Amino acid sequence: MAGAVMAGKSVLVTGGTGGIGRATAIGLAALGARVGITGRDQARAEAAAAGIGAAPGDPAVDVFAADLSAQAGVRRLAAQVLDSYPRLDVLVNNVGGFWAHRHLTADGLERTFALNHLAPFLLTSLLLDRLTASAPARIVTVSSGAHAGGRIDFGDLQGERDYSGQRAYSQSKLANVMFTYELARRLDGTGVTATVCHPGVVHTSFGAEDQAAHMAVMIRVARLFMKTPAQGAATPVYLASSPEVEGVTGRYFANRKPTTSSNASYDTAAAAQLWQASAALTGMTATT
Ligand SMILES: NC(=O)c1ccc[n+]([C@@H]2O[C@H](COP(=O)([O-])OP(=O)(O)OC[C@H]3O[C@@H](n4cnc5c(N)ncnc54)[C@H](OP(=O)(O)O)[C@@H]3O)[C@@H](O)[C@H]2O)c1
Repeated sequence: MAGAVMAGKSVLVTGGTGGIGRATAIGLAALGARVGITGRDQARAEAAAAGIGAAPGDPAVDVFAADLSAQAGVRRLAAQVLDSYPRLDVLVNNVGGFWAHRHLTADGLERTFALNHLAPFLLTSLLLDRLTASAPARIVTVSSGAHAGGRIDFGDLQGERDYSGQRAYSQSKLANVMFTYELARRLDGTGVTATVCHPGVVHTSFGAEDQAAHMAVMIRVARLFMKTPAQGAATPVYLASSPEVEGVTGRYFANRKPTTSSNASYDTAAAAQLWQASAALTGMTATT
């Protein structure tokens, strides 16, 4: 493994028990990284870890059990990661989900906004000092092309007045892009980069917990044309590891290429407002 591009580097991939996250963890372990994965259930996460980095000489895979929809879970995870990793070279914010119906988290927040946006916001904030101390370091967030249909509804961020699964999802994925751009501005000069990507449309368990009935048939058909998780992981793995993107920050990628995101995502005033709102909802200071 000596000489591998990620040898000696520590990486945390949220949601590494399945889908794109697990494939990302496999890809980065194969490049020599020490990889930590997270999932809600310890036994399931340990089973998922068994097939990651299984080649002789690969560093061990670390398993962290945490429900990231709850802020206490995010804070516990951050504390465990800080204990386990004296340096953290890459954080991959991958966890995300889709719910056809509105659900509340343990904190009383709408789940899509809480898990897809507030969890990476809070986790990144809590790990930022360690990432900065490990610079050059990278923060990679998995968004979606669905961000293009999104709008940040500051008057109703949590769909209290009117919820639609698609609207909540698109808003959260737009929030991932705007968060990354704002983070990159704030990290300018630190040696820590922030990039965001669309992994493609990938055959995973995505959205299976609460699927709209009319979507189920459509999704079964669409699966025939979807990418495999390994193909979906190609862009996050590239952003987390490739020397080609060393120092590249504040950019949106698809198919391992920088590309433009939606017009709304470049609204710097809205990004600053979203940062303030997210800081207030997570108890972080807005200057973090
Ligand atoms: N699949 C696609 O076509 C597609 C397209 C564009 C973007 N994306 C994005 O790609 C990312 C990964 O999606 P995926 O398709 O790989 O999804 P997935 O197959 O549903 O995997 C989700 C992962 O997140 C974990 N997870 C779910 N809820 C959690 C929670 N409350 N706390 C902690 N971990 C949780 C799951 O672990 P446990 O179940 O073990 O807890 C699992 O490891 C998401 O951000 C999604 O928005 C996916």
